Amino acid sequence: MKKTKIILDCDPGHDDAIAILLAGRHPAIDLLGITTVAGNQTLDKITTNALHVCEYLNLDIPVYRGMSLPLVREQVVADQVHGETGLDGPVFGPLKTETQQEHAVQYIIRTLMASDKDIVLVPIGPLTNIAMAMRLEPNIIPKIQEIVMMGGAYGAGNFTPSAEFNFFADPEAAHVVFTSGAKLTMMGLDLTNQTICTQDIIDRMEAIGNKAGKLFGDIMRFTLKSQQEAFGLEAGPVHDVTCIAYLIAPELFTTQDMHVQIDINRGPCYGRSVCDENNSLGLPANCKVGKGIQLSAFWDMVAEGVKRYED
Ligand code: RIB
Ligand code: CA
Repeated sequence: MKKTKIILDCDPGHDDAIAILLAGRHPAIDLLGITTVAGNQTLDKITTNALHVCEYLNLDIPVYRGMSLPLVREQVVADQVHGETGLDGPVFGPLKTETQQEHAVQYIIRTLMASDKDIVLVPIGPLTNIAMAMRLEPNIIPKIQEIVMMGGAYGAGNFTPSAEFNFFADPEAAHVVFTSGAKLTMMGLDLTNQTICTQDIIDRMEAIGNKAGKLFGDIMRFTLKSQQEAFGLEAGPVHDVTCIAYLIAPELFTTQDMHVQIDINRGPCYGRSVCDENNSLGLPANCKVGKGIQLSAFWDMVAEGVKRYED
């Protein structure tokens, strides 16, 4: 099976953690490194969570600390969804592993510049690290095979009526990425909100009976309540996992090429991904946008991912 080399840029975050779980042992994914970015919570909490998830799952993957603040705007976090720790729910033992010394942005630049355009960047938090890397070393842009991101929406937002959290947390960074010319694929809320992780799915994963299934349950049970209270959703969508699933089996997805621009004007649409679904502007498409997903096959893939972990 062909392995896709990826750098996972994340802000764990409950759904980020499940994305790490799916990617960590999948035969189609070569997870080169994990970079952390402030988003769901502050950077220290996010980075601690990433280390805990890798350690608990016995994943020997280097973790690099990234940007602690957005490029321009004041910091916002999603503690109402992910809790005070950023990953409320599971209880981990004392941390034994540490991050790499190199900054995440430098790691992204170094790795891409040494590559043969065979690395996919998978940002599933605010795009601060990616934007910083592009501004610090623009020569990485032609070296990026593709950016497959979780963020945005062509419909309503979740953090504001107009904006999805990852783009709202750093609109200027999203603007840099969407004007970079890199090959972009965006799994926005219209797609990811379909992956509602209900109690029966939690039961299915826990019934697998290994530690990964237990972690899945401890993580997602917390979001059953927080997503209902924060967004009125029946349960928590595993937004970020769709990016990994897309890389593994793109045939499970329907997408549409669209012109997408980010509203960076301070106002009610700040951080909105303005997606020209009807091509009313006649501008060239700059992004492949996720629209549909074969949910049954998606959850089967996640269950197979859980089963790959020995105890
Ligand atoms: O809006 C959903 C996104 O915001 C996901 O990446 C979730 O982890 C949060 O970061
Ligand atoms: Ca995330």
